[in-house]
Amino acid sequence: MNKQYVIKYQDEQIIVVEKLAGIGIYDLVNVLGLKHQFLVLTPCPKAMREGLVAFAKTKESLQYFKKSGNRVRFTFVGLCIGKFDKSEFTINDTLSGREAVTKVKVLNTSRSNSVGYVTLVELTCGDNFIFCSQQFRRHLYGVGHPIIGKVSCTKKLKNHKNKLALSCVKIWCQSIDNNCTNMVDVQVPRFITYIIEKETEYFDKRKMSSSIYDNKQQTFLDYVFFVNKYCLIPKTSSETIVNVAYDLIKSSDHGDNHFKILDCGTGCGCLLLSLLLKSKDNNCINKIKSSIGIDVSEGALEVAKRNAENLLPELDVTFLNLSFEHITGLNYNSNFVICNPPYLTSTMAKKTLDYDMLKYQPEMSYLVPGTDDLLFYKQVATNILKGNSRIKHYAAIDYEKQKNMKRRKIQNRDTIKGCSNSIVTLVPLHLILEVPHYLVARCSKMLLEVGYAEIKVHKDKFGFDRCLSCMYLP
Ligand SMILES: C[S@@+](CC[C@H](N)C(=O)[O-])C[C@H]1O[C@@H](n2cnc3c(N)ncnc32)[C@H](O)[C@@H]1O
Repeated sequence: MNKQYVIKYQDEQIIVVEKLAGIGIYDLVNVLGLKHQFLVLTPCPKAMREGLVAFAKTKESLQYFKKSGNRVRFTFVGLCIGKFDKSEFTINDTLSGREAVTKVKVLNTSRSNSVGYVTLVELTCGDNFIFCSQQFRRHLYGVGHPIIGKVSCTKKLKNHKNKLALSCVKIWCQSIDNNCTNMVDVQVPRFITYIIEKETEYFDKRKMSSSIYDNKQQTFLDYVFFVNKYCLIPKTSSETIVNVAYDLIKSSDHGDNHFKILDCGTGCGCLLLSLLLKSKDNNCINKIKSSIGIDVSEGALEVAKRNAENLLPELDVTFLNLSFEHITGLNYNSNFVICNPPYLTSTMAKKTLDYDMLKYQPEMSYLVPGTDDLLFYKQVATNILKGNSRIKHYAAIDYEKQKNMKRRKIQNRDTIKGCSNSIVTLVPLHLILEVPHYLVARCSKMLLEVGYAEIKVHKDKFGFDRCLSCMYLP
């Protein structure tokens, strides 16, 4: 069996031991033949995986050491989350009603895959050290740089078992019968340096894969799209929205050149372009009159344009730099809207298994600002109705009548504003949304409230609810 401790110093009053991984503090008390666990002098001993532990040998020597903090002093190292803007500072805060001082000295800062940076700090207590085992944890937590670990006032790190990354590496002690000060020190424990190495390694790997991600090609349905750092990589589950949209177009019995498609948040253009490609491949492209993709990201629009030129050079697809807030039907009179908007709140994003994958992609492509995950769904669902001259002017017409007529043409030059061509086909507005399964119920409710009808839920090929289709019936 490997040795689990090394005695570093002892005299009549004190024993200083280097505790190694695998031995608990109570076992250490036993193997050292000490009478009582309360004789331990080092703060945080139970949570400490490796490091120095000092024990007073008797109750009297415990009193002696505790009476004045100067008789035994400790230096710890802790691995904290984040990067500090000062190399040395002091935290002065009351703990359990008493003043407690922690001196912090930055030893090393390195990159981390999961939290950006991790910083190794040296921690010492001020003169009025109160032997509070949680002092370092609470103080560092309080200044926004919690120590890594899974006990209270710490923060877990994704790639590690989350043992408390805090360890005592130096002890000074001065016993009664020994007038000189004794100092014992050990190296920063291997488990802490290992976390630093691993975090750097993961960070470098991630950097490498994010550069590989530039100008990557991604197959979506049967078509190959260019993607880069400005857009979301098309997901297989998003094929559902294209299939639902395509089925609607294919099965519609309206006449030629009928659908005016608007793709909100087009990204690399994968939804819009594969819908057009699929319609072309199946001889129903003639049902599509126009197609527009909008996005707030200029970078994504550049990629979408490039994909359109490669995949559909013969078609006139328009891409506009526009936000969901500013889409109104005014300019487009779209009657077929598809949209896969960002819906993850930052809290939800951190919880998802795909978060690492998502981090290579622009936040704007998956994060919704604030806490309302339906924000963009509401904006799209309501704004596309605004200023849409067909919807505005036909709102009073009975939809049943219209359905029976299948393709009804109205001649009304005076009342239909915005339609210079007075022959207008009456159709409802189709809205097809990609919605994660946990938002389906709330999103359907919202759509009903806005005035949409015939709301249907569609599953992706993995069996999850993935898509909502509905109609606005004028
Ligand atoms: C989830 S991605 C969808 C990309 C692509 N349509 C797909 O399904 O793979 C959402 C897209 O919405 C865009 N976006 C984010 N906020 C927006 C806003 N306020 N207005 C318009 N587009 C927005 C992002 O740039 C991103 O391209």
